[in-house]
Amino acid sequence: MDTNPFLEEDLHIRHRPESCTVVIFGATGDLTHRKLIPALYNLAAVGNLPPGLKVIGFARREKTDEEFRDGLEEVIREISPTTFNEQLWQNFSENVFYHQSEFQDLEGYEGLKERLEEIEKQGRGIGNRLFYVASAPGFFDDILLHLHDAGLNRPGPGAGVDAWARAVVEKPFGTDLKTAQHLNRVVNNTFQESETYRIDHYLGKETAQNIMVLRFANAIFEPLWSNQHIEQVQITCAENLGMEGGRGAYYDTAGALRDMVQNHLLQLLSLIAMEPPTDLSADGVRDEKVKVLRSLRPMNGAEEVGGNVVRAQYTAGVVDGDEAVAYRREDRVNPGSMTESYVALKIRIDNWRWEGVPFYVRMGKQLPKKATEISIHFKQPPAVLFNTVPESDSENVLVIRIQPNEGISLRMQSKLPGPALRMESVKMDFQYATSFGKGSPEAYERLLLDAMAGDATLFARRDEVENAWKFVDAIEDAWHKSEAPPKMAEYPAGSWGPQEADELLHRDGHRWRRL
Ligand code: BG6
Repeated sequence: MDTNPFLEEDLHIRHRPESCTVVIFGATGDLTHRKLIPALYNLAAVGNLPPGLKVIGFARREKTDEEFRDGLEEVIREISPTTFNEQLWQNFSENVFYHQSEFQDLEGYEGLKERLEEIEKQGRGIGNRLFYVASAPGFFDDILLHLHDAGLNRPGPGAGVDAWARAVVEKPFGTDLKTAQHLNRVVNNTFQESETYRIDHYLGKETAQNIMVLRFANAIFEPLWSNQHIEQVQITCAENLGMEGGRGAYYDTAGALRDMVQNHLLQLLSLIAMEPPTDLSADGVRDEKVKVLRSLRPMNGAEEVGGNVVRAQYTAGVVDGDEAVAYRREDRVNPGSMTESYVALKIRIDNWRWEGVPFYVRMGKQLPKKATEISIHFKQPPAVLFNTVPESDSENVLVIRIQPNEGISLRMQSKLPGPALRMESVKMDFQYATSFGKGSPEAYERLLLDAMAGDATLFARRDEVENAWKFVDAIEDAWHKSEAPPKMAEYPAGSWGPQEADELLHRDGHRWRRL
């Protein structure tokens, strides 16, 4: 098979991660234990971790290096019991250290600096630093300010001219436009925008990355990819979990719109709706995504929001055979909470390509199963030949399954074998697992490597985050600041959401795709 050597070369160069010291703030938290360290360990297991990489965990709790390593080992053994490898862990964990400090204590950062320099001296003297801000969001400002004040926002002493210091910032990136702008100022006061990596782990998912390949590396989709041929688009993110593990404390301050729509789902929508970028550089891609976010039709006032957005909370029900309590009775949730555990939106994109095409987006907790998918519903053909009354399952639908059971399917009409002319809807299905013979790597593996490679394509830029907040803020204002706010609907845990969300589509003659 012919390969394009220039493309291969280019991809190779784009993704060459460099060795560094990764400093994780919030090192005793769940994210570090369940996602970040397992991702680094998996990369080490397949030989993709740059040699000489070190990790320093920074957190408030008193711990020795040994205790920190033991805690991490316990979780990794639990997550991957069959693939855990003693020797590999031994080699990996020798390069993992712990530094105890309060996040607000400048001295702790001075201490970190000494520790870093000491570790860098033992290493290959590269001096690259990757600061990963994964603490509770209330400490993001303190961490970034103190990194600046301790002079940690630069490579280690004696490092070469190409050495770097970068910051990866976890979500939530602010709670509204104002706080996001403030955080952006703080970040950019400490690190250049080109050194700043705002995580949206959905962008690290293989299936999300494949959206651009599907659209722009195939000649058959793009000519159809507009209001000329597309009737509607649906993006669904269903979860079958509630507020387990004390999550209610955070979630009740956020809600479905801020927790998932502002970031993950608007990112997916941008990838579906964007124009082809001029090139695959980080800014080339992000410029096009920002244009989509800037074209979202704003919803002004309670009436517009009420007509286009449904918010709801789950009541008691049964999920996966287990009894589930109502949202308001969940641990660490305010019993009078007005935070939505479900949201459905009809979004309009005011540009030439998408004029008149509704994008229906929904996200809910305690639904019957975990699944994220995007479906593109094409217009019906003229009903002149087959004299059929269009039914919704007779439409051509392209489904991109983001997770689980990653893949893409296309639904079309086919003649049922036999003498009569009868048609049935059939499905062509591509599955990652069968076609590629292997599962997709965890999103964090790819994102960590990209940050080490200096490739920000899969990270949100400052203007992306702010434009997304602008859109979301108008809805939050209508819910929480207007005199006659749109109502909070209800759905039983284990159901597919409130009736009001079905009505949102019925009004347009559509219905949600069954997952
Ligand atoms: C997080 C949200 O960003 O994404 C969670 O805060 C959500 O509420 C999670 O459950 C979903 O991620 P994934 O990768 O499991 O779909």
